[in-house]
Amino acid sequence: MSPVPAIPGGIVQPPSVGVRFAGVGSALPSKPVKNTDLEKLMDTSDEWIVQRTGIHSRYVVDRSRGESTLSLATQSLDNALTDAHMKPGDLDLILLATMTAEMSCPPTACRLASEIGAGTIGAIDVTAACCGFVYSLNMAYGLIRSGLYRSIAVVGADTLSKYLQYDNSGRSTSILFGDAAGATILRATDDTSKGLIAQAMHSDGNRWVDLYIPESLEHDFPDGHEASDEKVQRVQMNGRAVFKFAVGTFSGVIQQTLDDAGLHADDVDMYVCHQSNARILTAARDRFGLDQDRLYINIDRVGNTVAASVPLCLDELTKSGRVKEGQRVMFVAFGGGLTWGTSLWQL
Ligand code: ACO
Repeated sequence: MSPVPAIPGGIVQPPSVGVRFAGVGSALPSKPVKNTDLEKLMDTSDEWIVQRTGIHSRYVVDRSRGESTLSLATQSLDNALTDAHMKPGDLDLILLATMTAEMSCPPTACRLASEIGAGTIGAIDVTAACCGFVYSLNMAYGLIRSGLYRSIAVVGADTLSKYLQYDNSGRSTSILFGDAAGATILRATDDTSKGLIAQAMHSDGNRWVDLYIPESLEHDFPDGHEASDEKVQRVQMNGRAVFKFAVGTFSGVIQQTLDDAGLHADDVDMYVCHQSNARILTAARDRFGLDQDRLYINIDRVGNTVAASVPLCLDELTKSGRVKEGQRVMFVAFGGGLTWGTSLWQL
């Protein structure tokens, strides 16, 4: 890391730097699980799932083969480093967005730093449910712009399958989610035209009851929710309430960010959105009159992959040449918390 210019009193003086995406990578478990596979485990149908969610297939980790949040995060960051032509030792910091850390201690980010061979750099888990990656992009930008860091890996990795029940009792959630990881590397650049244009980060803790994973039978079930042993460590979601919230919030936060940036919807080349439900995404696309190519959808193949969703889309879009340097790209997410946020970039 190059020395940070300091002003008297030890206060760091922000240098004039831009921030660029230096590399991107992703990883999926080896095992795809199709709707027709789920039909054998629970009372559901391919038709019901496709109609309500747009999902045909998702990937689920095989823990007996060593697949986990950590293994996927490691693979995705390795791929991002290769894409950036960087060595692990070139990184200054890792932010790992996840709500499915291997354990509550240690932070999974510390093990990730060790797995990739990045030495003793700072490594932090960021927990903001499906918003974790988008929140982390905004935080990484601030840390680089302040002059404190020059190269930050921002990773989103989740294996929500460990909190799902693949039978009738869990059919309303297990059909939705998939496991994955995606990683980007943000770097300081002398080109000050590159970086964040506008962002938003919001939460409403009054709405936590709409999406939660209880840890304790005695303490974690809110009033009016029936507590049971079977629900402990299983995703509890009021699907209809989250759906309604998401449709309004998605459009609202995109508009707020466009207004802050003084831009119109079609001034943005690509909207890279959290893949929660194809119907929520197409509603947002229609609301802003965007053509199909500007708001990417891959939920049909991978389901809702929580904090991995946005960087996984970005990797696919970059590899296929649909997202490239010089474009304006808006990242958008919402999720448990409830949380919602954006990150609008000049690449
Ligand atoms: N197969 C067949 N029937 C089902 C299934 C299933 N897998 N799951 C539920 N049903 C039944 C229900 O029991 C219900 O039956 P009933 O009317 O006899 O009671 C009926 O289907 C309708 O159920 P709803 O839950 O009302 O269905 P809805 O149309 O709302 O669709 C869905 C459910 C797909 C979950 C939708 O509400 C949704 O997508 N919500 C948004 C969820 C979301 O985005 N969550 C991610 C947040 S991101 C994060 O931070 C983790």
